[in-house]
Amino acid sequence: MAKKIIYSAIQPSGIMTLGNFIGAVNNWRSIQENPDNQCLFALADLHTITVRQDPEQFRKNAMSFFALLMAMGIDKDKSILYFQSHVHEHSELAWLLNCYTYVGEMSRMTQFKDKSAKHSDNINMGLMDYPVLMAADILLYGTNVVPVGVDQLQHLEIARDIAVRVNNIYGDIFNVPEGMVNKVGAKIMSLQDPTAKMSKSDPTPNAVVSVLDDPAVILKKFKKAVTDSDTNIIYDPENKPGISNLLTILAVCTGKSIEDVVAECDGLRYGDLKIRVADAVIEMIRPFRAKYDALMADEAYLLEVAREGRDKAAELARPYLEKFKRAIGYVLI
Ligand code: TYM
Repeated sequence: MAKKIIYSAIQPSGIMTLGNFIGAVNNWRSIQENPDNQCLFALADLHTITVRQDPEQFRKNAMSFFALLMAMGIDKDKSILYFQSHVHEHSELAWLLNCYTYVGEMSRMTQFKDKSAKHSDNINMGLMDYPVLMAADILLYGTNVVPVGVDQLQHLEIARDIAVRVNNIYGDIFNVPEGMVNKVGAKIMSLQDPTAKMSKSDPTPNAVVSVLDDPAVILKKFKKAVTDSDTNIIYDPENKPGISNLLTILAVCTGKSIEDVVAECDGLRYGDLKIRVADAVIEMIRPFRAKYDALMADEAYLLEVAREGRDKAAELARPYLEKFKRAIGYVLI
């Protein structure tokens, strides 16, 4: 039986957040354990330059994210782990797909509108084209399932639309991928504004937890988390977003259900709940740190893993790209 192709990626911009871990990487670790799955996990470094990057910092971030993925348990022998920029087929397919995508549909994308407002001095073509590159990432491997957080679902929908559009013109070229979203933790909120997503680029102090924060810093950030003026610990994202966010984080970090953590925390004061959540986060990420430090000290090894991933990914990608090019009418040699 052919394996199910699972594809996902993360941008190496800024820091890796607790949201990235809970909404994405934590799931990747378990999905790769199923022998019926062939997983590909990429560092989406082509996407990152849609916002201007300092070259030195960009390179550091890319190496750091790559090491972090490995430290968190993304296993190069179970999954294909690679840098998007190392597999040129991504850029080539993105160009081809551009010619099957409408300017109107791109200009309506929520993230494009948000980022254009935020970076009004640099509304570059890449920012607008971002979802097409993401569609290329996914469609390049005949992907069946894309595990992501809620914020990426609109992009996934466009990838599906583009796949269907191409298939309607040329026949069966691309698989139409399905999204896969966590039941719990698909959208971790900012600790300072629990109605907004916890985001790598949020400059608000104490809003974002980095998976590389020291325990004391994590504790401090959770102690300052914005909640409400009530005293009841109940899960109600609409009316009690701050407490619900804390309960969600606690549930994922302890591997329990929301119902169980709500029952366990019944009667706690908010301050004690915050400490309990911080402790659970600290315990969950503690094992990564030492592995991360060891990996970062061995750049030669990281590059070797990246080369291996690149070779495996490119080998899988080529036939899909060729199939599409042949269908369009390109002369293949
Ligand atoms: P990125 O780098 O913003 O985020 C990586 C993953 O983390 C999830 N995520 C969250 N989940 C829960 N709560 C949060 N607060 C939170 N913040 C981020 C994201 O949903 C994502 O799953 N465009 C993508 C990268 C990408 C990609 C792809 C993903 C490029 N090509 C192909 C899937 C398939 C991005 O910028 O993710």
